[in-house]
Amino acid sequence: MRVLGIETSCDETGLAIYCTERGLLGHALHSQISMHQAYGGVVPELASRDHLLRLIPLFDSLLADCQLNKSAIDAVAYTAGPGLVGALLTGAAFAKAFAFALDLPAIGVHHLEGHLLAPLLELDPPEAPFVALLVSGGHSMLINVKAIGSYELLGDTLDDAAGEAFDKTAQLLGLGYPGGPALSALAQTGEAGRFKFSRPMTDRPGLDFSFSGLKTQVLLAAKRCAKESGLGDYTANLDTATKAALARAFEEAIADTLAIKCQRALEQTGHVRLVVAGGVSANTRLRERLQSTAASHGAQVYFPRPLFCTDNGAMIALAGALRLQHAALDMLRANHKIDATPRWDLASLPSIESAEPVNA
Ligand code: KG4
Ligand code: ZN
Repeated sequence: MRVLGIETSCDETGLAIYCTERGLLGHALHSQISMHQAYGGVVPELASRDHLLRLIPLFDSLLADCQLNKSAIDAVAYTAGPGLVGALLTGAAFAKAFAFALDLPAIGVHHLEGHLLAPLLELDPPEAPFVALLVSGGHSMLINVKAIGSYELLGDTLDDAAGEAFDKTAQLLGLGYPGGPALSALAQTGEAGRFKFSRPMTDRPGLDFSFSGLKTQVLLAAKRCAKESGLGDYTANLDTATKAALARAFEEAIADTLAIKCQRALEQTGHVRLVVAGGVSANTRLRERLQSTAASHGAQVYFPRPLFCTDNGAMIALAGALRLQHAALDMLRANHKIDATPRWDLASLPSIESAEPVNA
């Protein structure tokens, strides 16, 4: 079965074709980052309008790259939520219109299920059960994946998500939006030990996270340095070496905190596999830290390739394909409703074998 996957939940238009026999056949992506940069964050209305402009040209170039005709597609999977409602509806409308025209089944996919199954696109895919750490711009979650499609939330963020903390910290250092990759690159050159920040919520039991206090610690340290340098409150004007040392200490605190919680989750569940996904899983220091945590625990860690850590169509095509193999295809073929679920609890998903439509 060849499944067209469509991702439009936020600021990336992603399309891909996944074949249940041959794996990923191709993917196409357009990032809106440069368009939103001037505003310091995603502007929902601009995001929706841009998805509309990009979907058809990206689809045409994907078909050309895969040397396939539209008629080679057997089913459609689209991100139905969570995400920005207008952005989600553009992908849902495209998916349902295409499916209607070719009389194909179309299935709504949970964006976070897409992220946490992304490592299954790699050569050595993890087998369930496993612990999943999902760290993106909107989420920081630890999940007990008992089986593919059966998710138990072990821990969540009480305030900022890990990616959000990266972005806000980068902003106060004047690194632009989204700041995660820029902050991470700067941290590589930072002096070790010049600053030290706490590992939030690791001094008490439990698997929840809190990152907003860490961002405040960086702000206070940056303000102190700015004052000492006669810059007043202009932390964005600090010298590069100070910014790099702050970035390094912040990144070390995030990586350590996530690693401590992952270790606890492995101990609590008894699982020996750890899957890490979402935009922040592209972070090199976090990857290294989690590799050594897992190794010292006799566990194996799995990441998507960096390109599939952030939003993309391939993870949606894959997650859709897995669900379509057990779904009532005639029911999906007959459902022409264009739907989106902007807020959607991952743990509420039916198991994959249950054949229920996921966004019922
Ligand atoms: O998964 P994603 O593309 O979108 C959401 O579903 O949120 O994640 C985007 C987030 C942003 O906050 C971005 O700054 C962060 O992932 N990110 C990184 C890195 N690459 C992306 N954070 C730290 N280090 C990176 N290398
Ligand atoms: Zn995402």
